[in-house]
Amino acid sequence: MTVTVRRTVDADLDVIKDIYNAAVLSTTATFDLEPRDDAYFVEWLTNHQDDAFGAFSAVASDGTIVGYGTLSTLTPRPGYRVSAEVSVYVHPQHQGVGVGGTLADYLITHADTHGLIALLAIITGTNATSKRLFIKRGFARTGEMRHVALKFGEPQDLHIHQLFFPSNLPSDQTVAGT
Ligand SMILES: CC(C)(COP(=O)(O)OP(=O)(O)OC[C@H]1O[C@@H](n2cnc3c(N)ncnc32)[C@H](O)[C@@H]1OP(=O)(O)O)[C@@H](O)C(=O)NCCC(=O)NCCS
Repeated sequence: MTVTVRRTVDADLDVIKDIYNAAVLSTTATFDLEPRDDAYFVEWLTNHQDDAFGAFSAVASDGTIVGYGTLSTLTPRPGYRVSAEVSVYVHPQHQGVGVGGTLADYLITHADTHGLIALLAIITGTNATSKRLFIKRGFARTGEMRHVALKFGEPQDLHIHQLFFPSNLPSDQTVAGT
C-alpha cells in the first residue's frame, strides 16, 4: 500500500483512537487495560508538538488514516533530548502490507535529521512482528525488563532495542558497541 506520512492533526484523532484502542483490547503491544477516551488523545497530541519529537500519521491515497507513529522523549529532563522512544501502530485492517515499515522508516529519518543520538523501541517480549520490523531496520537488543506488567493473565516482559546515529554525536565521541 502506498502511504504518505505527515504530522498528525486534530482531524486524525478519531481514527487514531480506534487504532490504539483495538490494540488495547486485543494485543499485548500496550499495557493499557481499558480503552482511552477523546480527551486522552487531545492531550496526547498536545504533548507531541515538538519539532524533533512528535506524532505522525500514515495516510492512504484515498485520505484514510491507516496508522500512526510517535517519537517521544523518555522523560522531560532536558538531558534526554538526544534520544526518543519510537512507537508504531497500524489499523488492524491494514497490517501486513508495509504501513508499519513506511512509518518506521519515516520516524528513523526524522530522528536522524533532527540530530538525535539514539532511538529506543521498547517492545513486548512476545511481539514478534514489531521486533522483526525494528531489527530489520538496524535496531539491536540492548536490554530487557522481566515481568513488569500483567495482561490477559500473563506476566509480560519488555525488550529494549536501540538504533544509534553516531554521526550526530559530538565529533570526539563514539557509541560503544556500534
Ligand atoms: C507491529 C505493527 C506496527 C507492524 O506494522 P505492519 O504494517 O503490520 O508491518 P509491515 O507490513 O510493515 O511488516 C513489517 C514486518 O513484519 C512482518 N509481519 C507483518 N505482519 C506479520 C504477522 N502477522 N506475523 C509475522 N510477521 C508479520 C512483515 O512480513 C514484515 O517483515 P519483512 O519486512 O521482513 O517482510 C502492526 O502489526 C501493529 O500495529 N501491531 C499492533 C500494535 C503494535 O504491536 N505496535 C508496536 C508497538 S512497539
